[in-house]
Amino acid sequence: MQSIRKYKDQVSVYIDSIKLDRTPQELYQPISYILSLGGKQIRPVLTLMAADIFGTSVDKALYAATAIELFHNFSLMHDDIMDDASLRRGHQTVHEKWDVNTAILSGDAMLILAYQYFEHYEPEIFRDLAKLFSKTAIEVCEGQQMDICFENRNDVSVTEYIKMIEFKTAVLVGAALKMGAIVAQTSETNKQNIYDFGLNLGIAFQLQDDYLDAFGDENTFGKTIGGDILENKKTYLYLKAIINGKPSQQEELENFFSTAICSDETVKIQRVKELFIETGSAKDSLQLIKEYTKKALDILEQMDISEKKKEQLRQFSYELMDRKM
Ligand code: IPE
Ligand code: IPE
Ligand code: MG
Ligand code: MG
Ligand code: MG
Repeated sequence: MQSIRKYKDQVSVYIDSIKLDRTPQELYQPISYILSLGGKQIRPVLTLMAADIFGTSVDKALYAATAIELFHNFSLMHDDIMDDASLRRGHQTVHEKWDVNTAILSGDAMLILAYQYFEHYEPEIFRDLAKLFSKTAIEVCEGQQMDICFENRNDVSVTEYIKMIEFKTAVLVGAALKMGAIVAQTSETNKQNIYDFGLNLGIAFQLQDDYLDAFGDENTFGKTIGGDILENKKTYLYLKAIINGKPSQQEELENFFSTAICSDETVKIQRVKELFIETGSAKDSLQLIKEYTKKALDILEQMDISEKKKEQLRQFSYELMDRKM
């Protein structure tokens, strides 16, 4: 077994070595750009960890790991258009640095490049990876559409929100781990358990992302703080503030979130954050992150893998919960 750091280094080195010096440059440069901004690369690291845990060489899983990171970057390039975001990993988003058309097509190309990485595998593994990947990708699209639809709704329930983040984010975390398990050709039970562990970790991860979007530090988080508030995102922070709030607080929040036009963005972000704190939704959000992480760790406990391997996944989970980026 390797250290988490070593998996990350392997992923970075491999992804940096991808040859994108092709024409038309207008298509490939934005791909090089977004990949060069790095990011945490948690999904490919999870793929490598799972492959190692279930007993195959890490090198064999590198192609699947690369595929999932390319898919993730494709989803970010399009997500930033949809969310009207100007900052990604501390730098200009692709649709702002170039334009929307560029971000659409370079994103599409990255999705296709991702699939091509499966061609490295023998037929049975290829089939299982492609099947999981396609199922996951369509769920991510469904989750993204729900997220967008929710912006214009004022009756979103917490259950609907959890379903939405499960689809847009958590399934990809589950799939990252399961892909490592597929490459290792382990048992169906192992594949399912590691997926379920990832799914719950992924829900905690998106809850944390939503929390940091309001309460993080732009310099470390690398995204514009308050972006979700300006987009009227129905996050748990918002939904729980409505549930917990007094009628006057509910009214204030609903007014802020009822229009896409905002006369003073700074005031909106500032006041909404105050309301998240005053209503206790900020605290409740942190609590829910803990609960989903615990759910993930409970599944891990039941798995038939060595204590040392469990400990590594535990450590990874705790680090995610404490992240600032
Ligand atoms: C951002 O993912 C999108 C979400 C699902 C929250 P990450 O937080 O993993 O982004 P990078 O790849 O590290 O930049
Ligand atoms: C992203 O959710 C989910 C996908 C990209 C599929 P967010 O919109 O919260 O991600 P960030 O905060 O822009 O990274
Ligand atoms: Mg976004
Ligand atoms: Mg989004
Ligand atoms: Mg976010």
